Amino acid sequence: MCGIVGYIGSNDSKEILLKGLEKLEYRGYDSAGIAVMNSEGVHVFKEKGRIADLRTAVKPDVAANTGIGHTRWATHGVPSKLNAHPHQSSSARLTLVHNGVIENYDILKREYLQNVSLKSDTDTEIIVQLIELFVNKGIAVEEAFRKTLSLLKGSYAIALLDSQNEETIFVAKNKSPLLVGLGEGFNVVASDAMAMLQVTDQFVELMDKETVIVTKDKVTILNPEGEEMSRDPYTAELDASDIEKGTYPHYMLKEIDEQPLVIRKIVQNYQGSDGELTIDKDILNAMSQCDRIYIIAAGTSYHAGLVGKQFIEKMAKIPVEVHIASEFSYNMPILSEKPLFIFISQSGETADSRGVLVSIKELGHQALTITNVPGSTLSREADFTLMLHAGPEIAVASTKAYTAQLAVLSILAEVTARYRGLKINFDLIQELGIVANAMEVLCDAKEEFEEIAREFLATTRNCFFIGRGIDFYVGLEGALKLKEISYIQAEGFAGGELKHGTIALIENGTPVLALATQESVNLGIRGNVKEVVARGANPCIISMKGMETDEDRFVIPEVYEILTPLISVIPYQLISYYAALHRECDVDKPRNLAKSVTVE
Ligand code: G6P
Repeated sequence: MCGIVGYIGSNDSKEILLKGLEKLEYRGYDSAGIAVMNSEGVHVFKEKGRIADLRTAVKPDVAANTGIGHTRWATHGVPSKLNAHPHQSSSARLTLVHNGVIENYDILKREYLQNVSLKSDTDTEIIVQLIELFVNKGIAVEEAFRKTLSLLKGSYAIALLDSQNEETIFVAKNKSPLLVGLGEGFNVVASDAMAMLQVTDQFVELMDKETVIVTKDKVTILNPEGEEMSRDPYTAELDASDIEKGTYPHYMLKEIDEQPLVIRKIVQNYQGSDGELTIDKDILNAMSQCDRIYIIAAGTSYHAGLVGKQFIEKMAKIPVEVHIASEFSYNMPILSEKPLFIFISQSGETADSRGVLVSIKELGHQALTITNVPGSTLSREADFTLMLHAGPEIAVASTKAYTAQLAVLSILAEVTARYRGLKINFDLIQELGIVANAMEVLCDAKEEFEEIAREFLATTRNCFFIGRGIDFYVGLEGALKLKEISYIQAEGFAGGELKHGTIALIENGTPVLALATQESVNLGIRGNVKEVVARGANPCIISMKGMETDEDRFVIPEVYEILTPLISVIPYQLISYYAALHRECDVDKPRNLAKSVTVE
């Protein structure tokens, strides 16, 4: 979702800002812009579409050492050049970029800005116009900025330029992510460290409601009371090559291929000095002392939660409920006496999940976040964090983060079970090793999945994913992958539920992808396949070794039964990838989607 960059130093800022915005492309956006400031004033360039379009719009001869940039994912107002950021105040003295949503923008507009003619439909323009309104009343820009912030309800990360002060970028944040990066003779601002790794790996985290005065030599952080805060920087432990595609045509394919490595890395990271899998004692105590676990997540992470419930209930014998974050906020169930909340979030920034975290913390409950991003909002605000160690996931469609979530959840379940004195009759380290090897076999079978995609999905309008038990949950994830990147209407269904409605949609040639990896439901799912075939469906059965029949299209290697989702999802990831390629879709940056969804 929207991304922010800023640079103040001695070099020309344009290229640094554009490169930074390119690194934020993965978050999802539909327009972009930069504003650069020199002694002649502020120059704004913006375009609807891709950063490549913005690049061509930027005048190469404008040299400026200070600037801010933005990728916009439309919320208020259509994607257009007019609504793209940066936005300027009426006199053009002030220029601002914003990530987040100002919930009371309409009230502020009516109350303060009736005499101001607004140029865009955005909530953001209200902020810059309000600051100017106060400046026009004789208040200094810094003070006017803080006064405006005190009126805003909602979420924001903001970078502001004042054309009469070439030496400063004014910054603020509340609920939306924003970092300040430190350099020698320059400083930067970014929604995500990745954007500015090109110039520094030293970053300072900002807390909600802080404002920051950034000059090329100094960063002054002020708390809401205006007191100066001191905070040490941290080193962003990202390898620049982690965020490059290398020889891969798409990040998604690279990230699918990285999965075996990620699983091995997770095992390593969770192995204690005695070689056993280990988890922080405080987390194990929280797991053991709760009477029910509530998993809260969105999208792919929600699907990982569904599988995680099976892991925790089967191994650690603790009851688990899994909830969609955006629904939980309004429909909070009657909670048990001693609940423990687990937030699963690749980005650690999903606003829907964060909304739940804030409300359950107000109720005094404990929370554990499972995330891929250290220092992310959900990690900072929860009591405990477990890291995914998956490395940056750039493609919007989540792949390696999903399997990493499953691996970490399986470790959490297994270690908790042992901590509770329960017997585990398999060696998880060994079984995850077998999973990693099986993943390699599947990643090497790309041509077969490409062929399946061509045969079943090249021209279809819709597609169904069916399964029973744990295979059903993988089907939900498979369907999400396919619709996200190929725009084929795809739905996942429990095999036994088809006859209660969905089977009415089956027509001649409708592709039905079925998973058969669980002995206990093998006959059941094969019966469901027969039912759809009798109505004209084109079935593609993917089974696990040991359960295969002649009618199966692909057989995945055998892994420990409960761990099958870690590998059965890979055919679906690759089939979705190739279906999207055949249809000439933008695989890594699908339309309308954002990677990090920072609005509710
Ligand atoms: C967005 C992404 C999905 C992701 C979901 C939850 O919708 O496009 O791929 O699964 O957010 O994100 P999170 O970072 O919380 O896992």
